[in-house]
Amino acid sequence: ASQPSYRIASIPGDGIGPEVVHATIQVVETLAKILGTFQIEFTHIPWGTKYYKQHGRYAAEDCLETLRQFDAGLFGAVGAPDVPDHLSLWGLLLAIRGPLQLFANVRPVRTFPGTKCPLNTATEGIDWVLVRENSEGEYSGQGGRSHVGQPWEAATEVAMFTRVGIERIIRFAFETAQSRPRRHLTVVTKSNSMRNGMVLWDEVAAAVAHDFPDVTWEKMLVDAMTVRMVAKPQSVDTIVGTNLHMDILSDLAAALAGSIGVAPSSNLDPTRKNPSLFEPVHGSAFDITGKGIANPVATFWSAAEMLSWLGEKDAAVQLMRCVERVCAAGTLTPDLGGSADTQGVVDAVCAEIVKLG
Ligand code: NAI
Ligand code: MG
Repeated sequence: ASQPSYRIASIPGDGIGPEVVHATIQVVETLAKILGTFQIEFTHIPWGTKYYKQHGRYAAEDCLETLRQFDAGLFGAVGAPDVPDHLSLWGLLLAIRGPLQLFANVRPVRTFPGTKCPLNTATEGIDWVLVRENSEGEYSGQGGRSHVGQPWEAATEVAMFTRVGIERIIRFAFETAQSRPRRHLTVVTKSNSMRNGMVLWDEVAAAVAHDFPDVTWEKMLVDAMTVRMVAKPQSVDTIVGTNLHMDILSDLAAALAGSIGVAPSSNLDPTRKNPSLFEPVHGSAFDITGKGIANPVATFWSAAEMLSWLGEKDAAVQLMRCVERVCAAGTLTPDLGGSADTQGVVDAVCAEIVKLG
């Protein structure tokens, strides 16, 4: 039988993006070679701030058609010190997520070997999945500015919630919770003070819950949720919420798990009409760009999520075991208190992968 073969768009972007993506391609290519069960080919796509400075736009005009030719995308980071962040983010990442309807942003959070969970209550560490609505809500881009530059200048930022958009993310979150041993879902809103969109979230959640009798679910206000994540981390399993709320809660979760340098994310089109995009949670990290010390683990883990999504679950598990062994053995970058550089971690993980053969 012929081996499955995957075509991946590699979009390293800015800052440490190219460093961690380059590191990850080495590791995944080694994995494919050693396992010999699938083929994978990465195609470099140069979008980002350098491209913007040459072409006046962050991504090519036909970027969506380009991406649709691939099975998935691996993304680094976008953002440069000399370009306002709203231009870079909307120019690249948000220009892809919305139009490709990558409506589910999934962020697994787990205390990793070699990382220290700052919570002393979490003796067993953290093991959560955060599901973020990724296509509408507070980041719909609706709003405007009037009387610019005047003392009476005004700006609006409209949060837009649709029944279709809420229902599909809630359904996806219930399915995610159902696939995990604890079968527990927390739906995060702010339906006490936001009495329209957030109340619609609550109503849709209650309706969808009827289709998942084996999942226990509850509602929680976002402010109370921050307290619970810190004070009672073991009471949480799968969490779903809006674009803005989960943006914030997922950074908190990454910090509670130990480091932003290990946190992965997936931008999924669960209908599989479009290729999904996998990326570390962190950004360009200007302070360490070019030093060769960026932690590549978040991107390794993102690539493992990608392999799993493509159907290579076993390869994904093997990859993560190798990464965990290397971290547990103390080969860590400085953000985790170690003294290894990026390439040192790559070499150590590749050495573990070779042992699988
Ligand atoms: P950041 O995530 O780039 O950096 C925050 C801190 O974490 C820095 O001290 C950095 O050195 C450290 N850090 C991040 N990733 C690391 C890694 N892999 N290894 C070791 N240390 C790591 O967030 P910041 O500083 O708020 O944003 C910098 C730029 O990145 C901005 O332009 C921002 O807009 C952009 N950004 C882009 C994102 C994306 O492309 N998805 C996400 C977040 C920020
Ligand atoms: Mg964020």
